[in-house]
Amino acid sequence: MLMDRFARRFTYLRLSLTENCNFRCDYCLPDGPDCTSRQAELSVPEIRRLVTAFAAVGTRKVRLTGGEPCLRKDLLEVIQTVKAVPGIEEVAITTNGYRLQRDLPAWREAGVDAINVSVDSLDPSTFHLITGQNRLPAILDGIDQAIDLGIPKVKVNSVLLKGYNGGALPDFLEYIRTRRVSLRFIELMRTNDNVPYYQRHHISGQSIKDQLLIEGWQQCSKAKTAGPAQEFWHPDYQGKLGLIMPYSRDFCDDCNRLRVSSLGQLFLCLFTEHHQDLRHYLQSDDTAPLQAALQQFVLSKKATHGLHEQESGATRHLAMIGG
Ligand code: GTP
Ligand code: 5AD
Ligand code: SF4
Repeated sequence: MLMDRFARRFTYLRLSLTENCNFRCDYCLPDGPDCTSRQAELSVPEIRRLVTAFAAVGTRKVRLTGGEPCLRKDLLEVIQTVKAVPGIEEVAITTNGYRLQRDLPAWREAGVDAINVSVDSLDPSTFHLITGQNRLPAILDGIDQAIDLGIPKVKVNSVLLKGYNGGALPDFLEYIRTRRVSLRFIELMRTNDNVPYYQRHHISGQSIKDQLLIEGWQQCSKAKTAGPAQEFWHPDYQGKLGLIMPYSRDFCDDCNRLRVSSLGQLFLCLFTEHHQDLRHYLQSDDTAPLQAALQQFVLSKKATHGLHEQESGATRHLAMIGG
């Protein structure tokens, strides 16, 4: 079992499959394609060895992220490979929804158990302003399909943006009245690429939490190992509402995740430049050396992300390491 100096256990790996993305969300990749990695992404055999080593030291859930994971031509093979690793109980994917409508049944058949889709606005023109894409109706249809297909966990992510969706709580609540999804508001995080944008658009999740509590939403109890989101439920709604508030003081206390980039670099936190290159461990089927290395690396994980001390996040943009 991977455990750090603060007795946090890591059973959850977030694996980025590519830095590339076909959307240009203006808080994430405002400046076009120069984020595109020209280096080789992890191959399927490398992914199999990586996940095998993580599973051997206690990883039970793998979330495939990006960039946009559906841009990987071999995505189905990756899903099947990760799902087949002994010990892996859940394979999740985070997507902008671009291929959801078309590919969801195939993803499900390959082994996806949970799906998170980014929808920053339910209004098509605001959605277009934020993401540069006109696909909102198709994405919403894809989410409904995911519910109908019986995918066990369907989540919708919305980054809170002053001036864009800060006043849209009633629309989002209406959306989850009849849908069995967990909708999560994410506080905009300051990265090196978005500092002026952050200053204009950041809103605290606390204001949403206050409104929810006034309107009869109740906070769900949470296991210590459940990760950093706070969840709320209401008897009149089929969906749940979640808040991801990295700027709240105790956010990192329940951290349960580690990240590996599409180039095979281990990041102990979303907000650190420091990383360990794992690729050389992935060239042989003997995963014992990587297991031993992971046990050591995790001991240098810091107590928190340090966002309260730093002027801007050390991370250039979240597409680099999968959010
Ligand atoms: P599950 O708990 O697996 O459903 O996922 P999640 O909410 O962690 O996953 P998702 O990929 O939907 O992440 C939503 C966003 O929340 C991420 O892209 C980040 O922006 C943010 N987030 C998730 N985990 C962390 C974390 O550990 N630290 C910080 N600061 N933000 C996180
Ligand atoms: N702050 C908060 N969330 C972000 N995401 C990407 N960049 C940021 C940021 N700077 C979100 C996406 C997606 C998730 C994977 O990460 O909107 O929902
Ligand atoms: Fe964990 Fe870093 Fe996220 Fe905090 S910011 S919850 S330490 S990954």
